[in-house]
This record gives sequence, structure tokens and C-alpha cells, in this order.
Amino acid sequence: MTIYCNNQQFHLQTNHTSYIFKVLANGELGQLYYGPKIHDKPSYTNLTIREEHDAMPAWRLDQSDFQPEALKQEYASFGKGDFRYPAFQLTETNGSRISEFVYQNHTLTKGKTRLAQLPSSFDDTNDAAETLTLVLKDAVTAVRLHLNYTIFPNQDVIVRSATFVNEGPHTLTLNTALSAQIDLPDAKYDFIHFPGSWARERHLSRAPLHDGIQSVSSLRTASSHQQNPFCMLARPDTTDHDGEVFGFNLIYSGNFLNQVEVDQFETSRILIGINPTEFAWQLTPNSSFQTPEAVLSYTNQGMNQLSQQLGQFYQEHLVNPNFAQQQRPILINNWEATFFDFDEAKLMTIVSEAKTLGIEMFVLDDGWFGHRDDDTTSLGDWFVDKTKFPNGLSHLATQIHQLDMKFGLWFEPEMISLDSELYRAHPDWLICAPNRQATPSRNQYVLDLSRSEVVTYLIEQMSAVITETKLDYIKWDMNRNITEIFGNELAPNQQLELSHRYILGVYKLYDALTKRFPNVLFESCASGGGRFDLGMMYYAPQAWTSDNTDAVERLNIQFGTSYGYPQIMMGAHVSDVPNGQTGRMTPLETRAAVAYFGDLGYELDITQLSDSEKAAIKAQVTFYKKYRQIFQFGRFYRLDNPFADDPNVTSWMVVNSDQSLAIAARYQLLNQPNPKSCRLFLQGLDPNKQYTVNDQPEVFYGDELMTAGLLSPRILKAHSETTTLADFHANLFIIKACH
Ligand code: GLA
Repeated sequence: MTIYCNNQQFHLQTNHTSYIFKVLANGELGQLYYGPKIHDKPSYTNLTIREEHDAMPAWRLDQSDFQPEALKQEYASFGKGDFRYPAFQLTETNGSRISEFVYQNHTLTKGKTRLAQLPSSFDDTNDAAETLTLVLKDAVTAVRLHLNYTIFPNQDVIVRSATFVNEGPHTLTLNTALSAQIDLPDAKYDFIHFPGSWARERHLSRAPLHDGIQSVSSLRTASSHQQNPFCMLARPDTTDHDGEVFGFNLIYSGNFLNQVEVDQFETSRILIGINPTEFAWQLTPNSSFQTPEAVLSYTNQGMNQLSQQLGQFYQEHLVNPNFAQQQRPILINNWEATFFDFDEAKLMTIVSEAKTLGIEMFVLDDGWFGHRDDDTTSLGDWFVDKTKFPNGLSHLATQIHQLDMKFGLWFEPEMISLDSELYRAHPDWLICAPNRQATPSRNQYVLDLSRSEVVTYLIEQMSAVITETKLDYIKWDMNRNITEIFGNELAPNQQLELSHRYILGVYKLYDALTKRFPNVLFESCASGGGRFDLGMMYYAPQAWTSDNTDAVERLNIQFGTSYGYPQIMMGAHVSDVPNGQTGRMTPLETRAAVAYFGDLGYELDITQLSDSEKAAIKAQVTFYKKYRQIFQFGRFYRLDNPFADDPNVTSWMVVNSDQSLAIAARYQLLNQPNPKSCRLFLQGLDPNKQYTVNDQPEVFYGDELMTAGLLSPRILKAHSETTTLADFHANLFIIKACH
């Protein structure tokens, strides 16, 4: 066991990190340390300094140096002398909001089981996970609090959550129930997070912590395009390649809050969990509330290392094991080729052409159901449009399968159109507050997935289509956020439960379908990357990264996304030019060279391309298949950072597990006359191995490529290059170990 429990002190050790806390004199929990691995010992007196400050409450008259606000706490309550933001808050029937959770006992077990209703981490492969559960009790309310910790030593990850169990006679209100709290002893960190918007998701933002509150959050009942639950705290000199960094994320897809509070003593309190705004839960007698799991990780080896250990953790302990290690098919999606204007014959011309180019799956996007010829109608009516498919969808599916291609379909299960049979039958399934107008967004409205009959309807409708078409893949879209949120079936004091209940309904639907159809690959989508989070990742092993397929924009989006999520999770497509979102013309080779570093797909009318363009795509598909394993699963290293360094240059690379193969890419936006020479400093190679670059005769040691770099003339002799005297060019380098 690498969780040490001695004298009410708990030391959670992973391969390279230590996390230590203990029971304090008042029976509550105090945090001692989180950082690089240190030796275990019976006590760490220097890590719990009790100092008496003037003008601050103390626990007892005879313990004036026990001042809650000066202590690092494990899961803080509010109202007993610590005025920082708390990790939870419970309200009694009399209105009192004071809690005193005192340590009772703990259990330590090997492994990690899944949570019942929420996506969660697991350890199916006996990869050394250990789980510690502390039981605390509040005597006045008779509520039991479980603080749950699992260590994943090989990935240096700790997963935390809390469970509240009401063993008392009264219903209590849980106003705040966060998943994790970390009290760090100083505030010399940069707060790094990934803000964005539709079509420009997850750009890198980095700024030093300042006094007071800073946070990322969502109140959209979705993790959102605008903020992402992944964030980091890094020392000011930390780079992708070196230095200390903490990473935090939440296995959840709804409203979240990740907050850092820098207090009067320059310490930092990090809180992670369901956003307390728009949340309150009625904890009835004998019921319990389980928070989502928070993911914590630390390294002193820089942000590439952090991304890699998190990526490995997700692959092994979060993603649906049926797909975690499975290569993803190269797909063609008809959306940007046809929008709503298609029929079976038109689609089959695309399918046939795709087959000759080597593409492996056809995905039929929006518009195949009800009478949906534009976005004003038919959401909820998940049965085929007989005008477009007189012979049914199975006829199309059969032809695709006969070509030995896979077939995928678009659904937007959570939505409803006013013009739909579903709305006419069940108007009350639409989320809206009484006597208020329902605010439209993209002409559509949201179904109340907290209601079990709604989830059951969707399970049955979708199952019928999946079965009939022998479906291989589903693109699960979600194109608007909830307004006028109100649950028709919930009591007034339960209305603040709806956001969370809605997400639980989404998970219930995902759970049922993934269990019923274990071989169907799900790709999550929310107008592009509006729900790119770990809750989705548990069910849907890949996600549509952004509706923006412009190669230049995608560099920023994929670069930012790569900090928190592995490239195997990123759907990345080659689309037409001029680009639909930016009007930009970029070379076909560059568009492909960006999309290779993800799950490659095509999203354009390939029947309209010239013969030379078709030949180029065929070559791209062949190339990607040859290197698919390393593109999708290789260790990903960010090299040149367009947010921090020269915005004109982005570069990154992937390396296979035995360091015998690597592929690097350097992208330059605008060309420069008479340019200075440039160097590409590679990463992750074996310093002692000899490598060739793009099959040229010269041999390089790994250390040379990493420390001296590849010089400009080499860069110009890239494997596949667009005219070097052009804007938006990409150079790829295939780096092979000599045998
Ligand atoms: C969203 C998705 C797109 C496409 C359309 C269809 O915008 O992100 O990829 O599926 O919906 O309506």
C-alpha cells in the first residue's frame, strides 16, 4: 500500500507525488502538503504551524493559537472562524448553517469502483489504485460525510469526491457541495486556463495569481465553450518542458466552479466542483448526495509531462475500455458538403468517392429525420424522413456496409423543436418556467432530461434507429444552453436541483445506450467544443473539437485543448476553402497536417474536387493509416507555443512508446522575406538512439535533435511541404530510429 495511515495522519503517495493531511485537535481535517514525493514519517510538525494572529477567532479560549483561518484545511466549512470560501454548506431546518464534521474512522481498499450515477474513474486493470475513505460526522444534524480519495500511482493522479449521508430525522439543504479543496501554502503561481467561445474554443490564458478570488466557471448546464473545467497552477518560470505545475479537472459536464482564493497570508485555496450558484439539494432523511470526482495531478517536469500523465490516466482509468486503445476510423461527414440539402442518391455519390479514397466511415449529419430541411423543425422526431430516404435509412446503411465501410449518424437527443410530433404530444417536456416565454436558441428548446419518461422515450427512439441501421457510430450534438430553467415535476424547494438532475439524465441516457450497444463509438459535440469535458469523455471517447475547421484557427484550438486532453479525444477534419468560418484559403496539405494530430476526418464535398485534389486526399489517407497509431496514441509534446512565443509559428510532435518513431510538425502562418534561420527543438526522443529525418541519409543522435535542434535547411526539406514561399505552410518530419 502506498497510502500510509498512522496516528490519524494520511499520506497518499504516488510514484512522484505526496499528498498529506491529518486529523486536527478539534477532530476536523487539516491539510499538510501536496507536491513532490517525500518520505513518510509519523508526524510533520513543521507543516502545521499554529501561530496566534491578532483579530482572528480561535477554536477555544484555551487554544488561542488554533485559528481556523490560519490553517490549511482539507474540506472547510463556513462560520466557525475560517472566512475563506468553504467547500460545502448545509442548512438545517431552523436556518442554521454551521457544521462540525469530526473524524470517525477510515477504510483503505485496493482498486477503484465506478460511481453509481456519475461518470467516474475506475481501475479495471489492477493498475495499483488504492482508495481511502474517511468518515466524519456532524453530531447536531447526524449527517455523515465521506471524503473519498483514490490514488493512481503510475499516473501521479489523485481523484477526490465527497458523499453526504443524512442519518438524521430532518431534511437538510445542501447549498454547496464541492468535490475537492487544496490549500497551498503560497500564491506564487500563474493561473492557467482555457477561455473561448463558439468556433474559438480553449485558447491558452496565463496570468499570475492576484489577491482575492479568480475562477473559471459555467452556469450554462454545460461545461461550455466559454470556460473549461481544466485549469492549472504553475510557477512563473514553468514551461511546457520544465517546472512545477498542478492540474485540476472535474469529471462532470454541467455547471462547475474552479476557484482560487489568495488570502491575507498569501496562501491559495483551490475549490473544484459543482457551481454553488444554481444549486441546492434537499438531503432527505436516509438519502445521500454524491459529488462528481475531481482530478488532481502534479509534476515538476513541466506542462507537457502534466498533459501526458493526465492523458494516460484518462485512457486507462476513464475512457470506455471498449474503445480506449482502439484506433479510430477515418470518417467523412456530409455536413459542410450538403448541409440539409441531400437525398440518398447524393449521399451515395459521396460514399462511393470516399470509398475509392480509402475513407473508412460515412457520417450522416443533421437533417435525416422528421421533415428537417432547415434548423426550425423536427428535433425530437427520431424517425427517418421518407422524402429523403423513401427506402428507409437501413437501405443507405446496407449499401455503406456492403462497401465495407462503417456508418455513423447525427443525433441531438436533448432537444425539441416546436414543430415536431414530440412537442405536439408532450409540450410539458420542454424546459420552461411557468408563465414565462421560453427563449429560443437556434430555433430550438431543451427537453427535461431529469424526467425518467423523457430519458426512456429517447432510449427507445434511438435504440430503434441504431438497431435498424446496424449503426457503428453516433455524433451526439447539443446546440444550445438551458434558459428559464424549471422542473415541472419538482417541488419549489427542489428547483435548484434541476441543473444537476438534468446532467444526471444525460448520463443515464448515455449509460443505457453505451451498455445496450457496446460496439457503437460515440463522439460528443456541442456546437463544436461546447461540452469538451471529462464527464463526456467517460462515455464518448472522442469529441468534435470545434465547428471551426480553418487550419490556422485549429492550431490555436488544438494547441490549447492539448493541455488538458489527449489528441485521441479530438475530432479533427479537413474541410473546404475558402473556409466557412473565416473565409481563409489554406493549402490542402496544411489542413491535413493539422488534422493528422487528432482523429482524422473529411468534411467537404469530395465529388466536386479535381483529380489532383482527390489524389492528394488518397495519399493523405494512406499516410495517416500508416502512422495512425502514433498520431492517435503517441506521447504528445508541444514545442513552439503560439500563445506565448511567436504567434506566427506553432509546432508539436508525437513520439511512440519505445521512442523508435516520432512525427513532428511545424506550421508557419505568414511567410517572411529573407527570413532568419529557424530551429525545431525536438522532445521525448532517446538521447542515445540514432535517428534519420524524412529518410535522408544523415543520422542524428536524439540528444542532438533535442538540444541543438533541427536547423532551417532541414526544415525546408520536410516530408510533405507546401511551397515554402507561401503563407500557411506546414512541414512534417518523420523521425525514425536506425536499427
Ligand atoms: C452543430 C455541429 C455541427 C453540425 C451541426 C448540424 O453545429 O457542431 O458539426 O453537426 O450542428 O446542425
